[in-house]
Amino acid sequence: MSLTKSELKGLFSSATNEWSTPQEFFDQLNKEYRFTLDPCCTRETAKCEVFFTKEDDGLTQSWEGHTVFMNPPYGREIKDWIKKAYRESCKPNTTVVCLIPARTDTRYWHKYCMKASEIRLIKGRLKFGGKGPAPFPSAVVVFASLAQTTLDNIKRSIRTANRQRSLPGAVLTKSGLRIKPTLSAIEQS
Ligand SMILES: C[S@@+](CC[C@H](N)C(=O)[O-])C[C@H]1O[C@@H](n2cnc3c(N)ncnc32)[C@H](O)[C@@H]1O
Repeated sequence: MSLTKSELKGLFSSATNEWSTPQEFFDQLNKEYRFTLDPCCTRETAKCEVFFTKEDDGLTQSWEGHTVFMNPPYGREIKDWIKKAYRESCKPNTTVVCLIPARTDTRYWHKYCMKASEIRLIKGRLKFGGKGPAPFPSAVVVFASLAQTTLDNIKRSIRTANRQRSLPGAVLTKSGLRIKPTLSAIEQS
């Protein structure tokens, strides 16, 4: 089933806000991460027991200590959510996994997503809210908690150094050193 003109129009406007994550896709990720917080949803689309709706304003809340699943509103405000995801992940024991459009040409992608610990590019299109395939590609961007990132980085540095007899490129951020994100693909059935 393809999208109607008005659905397409809606997807690129702030009216897209209610497009919810396909349950199967979420379940797959949830198996891996065991999410504890959905910071942007409605009561009906909440993916975790702890959640924030528009009324709570997830952007102004603390996400510290949570493993967060974030599928943010896709309007212009998306950049604020990505920035928030990155900043919250710099707090102790806080991991933020973002499901976002793979808009690799945007400033926020380069400023924040390139500091992620991992980027998974989704092959095929997701069917948000039980509708037809989305007209844009999606990605899962993982801002792992610093403790986890540090451990992973040490392991990767050793592996890479062993393989290449050199160290991989690193990104220096205000909160410390992050190795460039690993890239992988997720197959969509
Ligand atoms: C793309 S939907 C994702 C819904 C759900 N989290 C999911 O994955 O299925 C984005 C959601 O963010 C909500 N939202 C918009 N602004 C918000 C805010 N400031 N705080 C919390 N939620 C907000 C919208 O109402 C919408 O339900």
